Amino acid sequence: PVLVVDFGAQYAQLIARRVREASVYSEVVPHTATVEEIVARKPAAVILSGGPSSVYADGAPQLDARLFDHDIPVFGICYGFQAMAGALGGTVTHTGTREYGRTQLSVDGGVLHEGLPATQPVWMSHGDAVTDAPHGFEVTATSAGAPVAAFEDRARRLAGVQYHPEVLHSPHGQQVLTRFLREIAGIAPTWTAANIADALIEQVREQVGEKGQAICGLSGGVDSAVAAALVQRAIGDRLTCVFVDHGLLRAGEREQVQQDFVASTGAKLITVDAVDTFLGELDGVSDPETKRKIIGREFIRSFEGAVSEVLGESAAHGEAVEFLVQGTLYPDVVESGGGTGTANIKSHHNVGGLPEDLQFSLVEPLRLLFKDEVRAVGRALGLPEEIVARQPFPGPGLAIRIVGSVNQERLTLLRQADAIAREELTAAGLDGQIWQCPVVLLADVRSVGVQGDGRTYGHPIVLRPVSSEDAMTADWTRLPYDVLERISTRITNEVPDVNRVVLDVTSKPPGTIEWE
Ligand code: XMP
Repeated sequence: PVLVVDFGAQYAQLIARRVREASVYSEVVPHTATVEEIVARKPAAVILSGGPSSVYADGAPQLDARLFDHDIPVFGICYGFQAMAGALGGTVTHTGTREYGRTQLSVDGGVLHEGLPATQPVWMSHGDAVTDAPHGFEVTATSAGAPVAAFEDRARRLAGVQYHPEVLHSPHGQQVLTRFLREIAGIAPTWTAANIADALIEQVREQVGEKGQAICGLSGGVDSAVAAALVQRAIGDRLTCVFVDHGLLRAGEREQVQQDFVASTGAKLITVDAVDTFLGELDGVSDPETKRKIIGREFIRSFEGAVSEVLGESAAHGEAVEFLVQGTLYPDVVESGGGTGTANIKSHHNVGGLPEDLQFSLVEPLRLLFKDEVRAVGRALGLPEEIVARQPFPGPGLAIRIVGSVNQERLTLLRQADAIAREELTAAGLDGQIWQCPVVLLADVRSVGVQGDGRTYGHPIVLRPVSSEDAMTADWTRLPYDVLERISTRITNEVPDVNRVVLDVTSKPPGTIEWE
């Protein structure tokens, strides 16, 4: 792998992701990893990430110069660039002036920026500056605040940049990273969806063994579908998928899972129809947290019921279900501090907490992948676009998109409005630009309108299109007016009792993506 040493900024994960976009496998390691630990991983290259603003700051993480004794290609970024310069005998000066934001970079020679514009905008964020490059390094770019803004030593396969190539504000950054990987480090682009899928199928086979049985809760979302498809490829009918229909799904979702998923994977599927139970329990409840609690609890009950059904069947064959498949992704793994291998669990949040006496080994084939990679693997496995291109949808479903209490009538309205918005966004080719677009029914709000010759007194529908890389932060998506107009016209014309469509123009923070 290419190891990204995380010096504590939020950029390390993003760097790993960019490296993978260049078809090279990459993982994040904490800066506390020792040189021995790093070398033991046999990295194809090491990337030193950005970090605190100054290498002179109290408690600033140190770079062990012995890293450079092992003939490993190294690329330094921002703080990592300065730490690298310092460790190799260059000079880092505490200039006191900060260079922050969009900056013009002047390029002069070198391999990193070859073929790219001689002046280009880059994203800077630093207080100190490298004023002398270490011996053997060629200085290949400068900026107003950074006399040494990029350097490289091709013979030793070392290079670095003061700016952040991983952010979109550095428009040529991805090319620069790719050039480091290919031209300086000499790494072949083998991290492709088909290769990943093959490797993961093989790993699942090894983990589950010749006889093991597994179950997987399908949510209708991309992650659980791809995880299930991988495991199904690996162990076939020894996997049972469970889908709980809680009545809070969007139009066509249950059918999609039952038909598209099964048709494209051949997986064994149990659908639990729990609509009446869920809607009964939710009757009259409008507090968001209470809704979530009820849904979580009922979900566990339904899942438990299905599991004992599966257990019953396989117990009859003298086997027991030993493995639980989950669609955990790499960002969750990094955030919870890493951790490897399988964990024996008693309760777990993804499924919602199973009974204490049921113990499963987790199978998490996606735990090293980012969302876009999961989609690519899904495509490589032949899952249809309707499944892999799906935008995230919350487990509690439409219940947390009805502000007010939930009932069948309100669900029907919201489902219609949501289907129209999705249809128009897809038709306009905007799905790729949108992370997700919750459609929310303000069921406890009414406003006056006029339709035909008459007064109406109906509910507003809120459109909440957001752009995001990971849902932790988000910005509202600037949708074209003509698309908004079409959605608005269609919803007010076609959905009974809705006479107004409003657009949510709040970023996250301060707003969350969902309304509840
Ligand atoms: P918020 O509203 O917190 O949402 O900004 C962030 C992301 O998480 C999704 N979301 C959920 N997903 N169960 C889920 O599986 C939940 O209870 C839940 N609540 C929010 C939301 O759709 C967005 O993608």
